[in-house]
Amino acid sequence: MITKETLKHKTLGAILAEYPFTLTFFENNKLHLDGHESSTLADYLQQFDEEAIENWAIDIEKIEGDLFAYIHQMLSFLGIKEETGVDSLTILAGQDKSGQKETFESLTIRKSDIIAIVGPTGSGKSRLLGDIEWTANADTPTRRTILINGELPDKKWRFSSSNKLVAQLSQNMNFVMDLTVGEFIELHAKSRLVENEAEVIAKIIEAANHLAGEKFSLETPVTSLSGGQSRALMIADTAILSTSPIVLIDEIENAGIDRQKALKLLVGEEKIVLMATHDPTLALMADKRIVIKNGGIAKILETTTEEKTVLKKLEKMDAVIRELRADLRAGEHVKGDYEDA
Ligand SMILES: Nc1ncnc2c1ncn2[C@@H]1O[C@H](COP(=O)(O)OP(=O)(O)OP(=O)(O)O)[C@@H](O)[C@H]1O
Ligand SMILES: [Mg+2]
Repeated sequence: MITKETLKHKTLGAILAEYPFTLTFFENNKLHLDGHESSTLADYLQQFDEEAIENWAIDIEKIEGDLFAYIHQMLSFLGIKEETGVDSLTILAGQDKSGQKETFESLTIRKSDIIAIVGPTGSGKSRLLGDIEWTANADTPTRRTILINGELPDKKWRFSSSNKLVAQLSQNMNFVMDLTVGEFIELHAKSRLVENEAEVIAKIIEAANHLAGEKFSLETPVTSLSGGQSRALMIADTAILSTSPIVLIDEIENAGIDRQKALKLLVGEEKIVLMATHDPTLALMADKRIVIKNGGIAKILETTTEEKTVLKKLEKMDAVIRELRADLRAGEHVKGDYEDA
C-alpha cells in the first residue's frame, strides 16, 4: 500500500501514470502540472511562495492529505488492490475423503516457487487449487486452511474482481459474453488501468497466437474460439495483464497448446505458481510436488537432481512429439527419421 510519505516523494509523472484518475484531482484544485512531471509532489508544492499560497488559498498540507485520501477512495471504488506483497502461502492440513487428517502439518510456499500437484484422476488436485483460490478457512470439504504471509487473509480478496490475490486458469473455460477478442482484452486492460493499452493488447494477442495452433485475430468473437484458443488467450492475458501474486493452473496439457511455452510465460518473477498436472515434464519442471491421494495431501516431494536429468531427456522427447503433432495437424505423413530421444 502506498503511504503518505512515499506519495510525497513520487514524481508527478509517476503519480499520474500509476493513478491516472488523479488528473481530475489536480484539475479540481487548480494545480497546473505542465512541465512539472519530473518534480516530486513535495517539491512541486514547495515551489509556491507565500504570496501564491495567500492569493490562491493553497493549503499544502491539506493537498497532500486530500490527494492521499482521494487515491485510496478511488482505488477502493474501482475495486483495485495495490500490490499486496505476498511473500508466502501456507496450507494447513485438513482431511482426506475418508475424514482422516492429512499426514503433513503445514506446507509453506514462497515467492518464485513452482509447485506441481500430482495424483490420480479424481484424487483432489483441482479441489486443492479451489481451496487456495477460496482462501479456505476450514470451510471447504477438505477442511484445509490457507494462510497468506502466515496469517488468515482478508476475506475481501475472495470477492475483489480486478486486482485479485489469485489468478486461476481452470480446467473448463467457456466464454459466455458477446465480445470480440479485442474488446475482451481491452475491457480487462481498462479495468487494470494500463496506460499503453494498444501496446498491451497487441502483446497479448501475439503471445496467445504463439501458444495456439490456428491463429485468431482481435475481431474474432470470443464465443467462436476453440478450447485451445480460449485457453491460450486466457494464459496470455493472465501472464501479461494480471498482477496477482499467486497463479493457479489446472491442466494446461489438455488444451492442445504448447505447455512448456505457456508455463514459461506464466511463471513471472516473484510469483507463487501451483499447477495440477498429469504431465511428467511439467511435474518435473516444478521445484516440489504435492502428491494427492484420496482427497488428501499424501506426500510432498522435492524434485531431485536425478529427476532434473530425466527432465532434460523428457524435454527432448517432447520436442519429437511436438514435431510429430505438427506434421499430423498439417496433414502430412509422418516420416520414420525422428531423432531418438
Ligand atoms: N478431502 C476431500 N474431502 C471431500 N471431498 C473431496 C476431497 N478432496 C477432493 N474431494 C472431491 O473429490 C472430487 C474430485 O476431486 P478433483 O476434481 O479435485 O479431482 P482431480 O484430481 O482434479 O481430478 P482430474 O485429474 O480428473 O482433474 C471433487 O468433487 C472434490 O470436491
Ligand atoms: Mg482436476
